[in-house]
Amino acid sequence: MVEVDGIPVLLIRHRGEVFAVAARCPHMGAPLKSGRITEDGYLVCPWHRSAFSLRTGDVAQWTPWPPGVGKVLGALRREHALPVYPVQVDKGRIWIGMP
Ligand code: FES
Repeated sequence: MVEVDGIPVLLIRHRGEVFAVAARCPHMGAPLKSGRITEDGYLVCPWHRSAFSLRTGDVAQWTPWPPGVGKVLGALRREHALPVYPVQVDKGRIWIGMP
């Protein structure tokens, strides 16, 4: 995890590409550094297992965990995409485009 302009950003290398995403889940703020990456490029939140595209931040699943309770928790906060930031790797340096 790095901090860019005061914003915590998670850097992830997946299948040879580097992605920069918000370090906290947009649902209830879980630390996504403890999340898991799926083979097909989704970051899964460690708390309620929402899944977000590393490339676009789009939601693939919203709070499916734990069964039954996850749906109630998901209703507490409207579905939000994960902020993702453009990345450029140049001569061993990583440049992150912040809004
Ligand atoms: S905090 Fe991430 S899905 Fe609830």
